Amino acid sequence: MKRIKAIYPGSFDPPTNGHLDLIERGSKIFDELVVAVLRNPDKDPLFSVADRRKMLEAMTSDFDNVSVDTFDGLTVDYALRVEAQAIVRGIRAISDYEYELQMALMNRKLQPALETIFMMPAEQYSYLSSRLVREVAQLGGSIDCLVPELVGQKVREKMDVAHRFEDGEPPVAKTPSEGKSRPRKKKA
Ligand code: PNS
Repeated sequence: MKRIKAIYPGSFDPPTNGHLDLIERGSKIFDELVVAVLRNPDKDPLFSVADRRKMLEAMTSDFDNVSVDTFDGLTVDYALRVEAQAIVRGIRAISDYEYELQMALMNRKLQPALETIFMMPAEQYSYLSSRLVREVAQLGGSIDCLVPELVGQKVREKMDVAHRFEDGEPPVAKTPSEGKSRPRKKKA
């Protein structure tokens, strides 16, 4: 019987509960799923590719048919290299569709044999994105329900380091529990 291997490419900066939800769904459909972190020299990421890979490996250790890898260049070239037949992408809302459709059609143009499979994450993650997670954390909000615990811990460590080097007063958290994640700097 033909085995179907899929890649799930993305930035994953940082990986979220929405990504994990999609990985779990994908692992049930495909024989093999490779979570592929893009090495993008143009971006200024919060986490290094190595850190993102480690977080994803820890998050997916329970799934026997899921592995994590990194790649650069075209996604379709990477997919061919690892002999995948499908590309998985998540669609949260209609607003994602236009960009995702454009990318899927371009990938099909480049490599007609590869199929893009769109999957929807659970409803509670439909507003969730790595960008918002970074922003909420940077402004002192709680990201506890948005990312796995180990990712939350890593994000908080990053923010602590960033704030230690900041000149001004860090933003004030809205509740005492949110404030726990980061010690405040005293005014000079
Ligand atoms: O998580 P993201 O940032 O939405 O993922 C976007 C990603 C990595 C899937 C996309 O930027 C990509 O495929 N980049 C690799 C370069 C490439 O293949 N570009 C042509 C896409 S049509």
